[in-house]
Amino acid sequence: MSSHIFADLHIDPSLHKDVDVYAVAGNPIAHSKSPLIHQQFAEQAKQVMHYGRLQPELDDFANAAKRFFFAGGKGMNVTVPFKLDAQAFANQLTQRAQLAGAVNTLWVRDGKVYGDNTDGAGLVRDLLAQGIALQGSRILLLGAGGAARGVIGPLLEQSPKCLVIANRSHEKASELVKLFANLAASKEVALEFRSLADLEHTAKTPYPFDLVISATAAGLSDESPLSAAAVANIFTPSSFAYEMVYGKTTAFMQQALQRGARISDGLGMLVEQAADAFLLWRGSELAKHIDPRAVLAKLRN
Ligand code: ATR
Repeated sequence: MSSHIFADLHIDPSLHKDVDVYAVAGNPIAHSKSPLIHQQFAEQAKQVMHYGRLQPELDDFANAAKRFFFAGGKGMNVTVPFKLDAQAFANQLTQRAQLAGAVNTLWVRDGKVYGDNTDGAGLVRDLLAQGIALQGSRILLLGAGGAARGVIGPLLEQSPKCLVIANRSHEKASELVKLFANLAASKEVALEFRSLADLEHTAKTPYPFDLVISATAAGLSDESPLSAAAVANIFTPSSFAYEMVYGKTTAFMQQALQRGARISDGLGMLVEQAADAFLLWRGSELAKHIDPRAVLAKLRN
């Protein structure tokens, strides 16, 4: 590893005295697109800031974050595998970060570290920007880990007709249903759980879905969470399949395409969650000056 790369992975705010310094922390982090995205928002909104990368050791997030903020860092995005560490690190959590059980955005104000989670809002905005109607829709969410939990609250807020959470082990999905039961009831959403195997049986899969979101780790390898029998039950040509992984057409996306459904990867979610973090840090009044869809289009080129 060259010393330049090494320095880039361990950004030190005290070396950038005249600008506000931000960073994305993850491990690994070298290929993160976040610096590029935030640099473009800063240009659009005419903000002078520096955004770097931080790669804490796997068991050292709290120390690395402490050093970063002590040296003057203003805010931090947090990605795999540190979102739970970031939640523990924050002194004050937003309500949606509490419900999400994880934090992807940190900042310091009046000596306090605040933690929020902008992932779910990012997903919802990307879906709406792609013309997907959420209100009254039938949504299937695949997975019950941290990535799934982070988006359930914002999806329920959109008042879909139903949200079915399906996971390999149905116990985890049933825990999430319990956790979000009150919010679902207040929005009059039918919130249910299934195992992935249940999706193979028509009796347990009451209808095809308008929107199927894959939030499983299967997308990272070349596997799909869905069997051929499940695929036949859940998709119609008017379904929309959303994969949280970006940069490739996963097996899940290919299955949806074969059923004539439309697909999307998760790059738009990445850009939209970054937009929310940018506005939390730099001020919501800048919303009219940034254009996440233009940033997304540039990344796709
Ligand atoms: P993340 O924070 O990315 O969600 P996680 O909390 O480890 O990571 O959760 C991984 C999710 O992907 C889980 O829902 C997991 O299912 P189990 O709870 O049954 O383990 C799911 N997952 C991982 N590999 C999978 C595969 N090959 N097929 C289906 N689901 C898979």
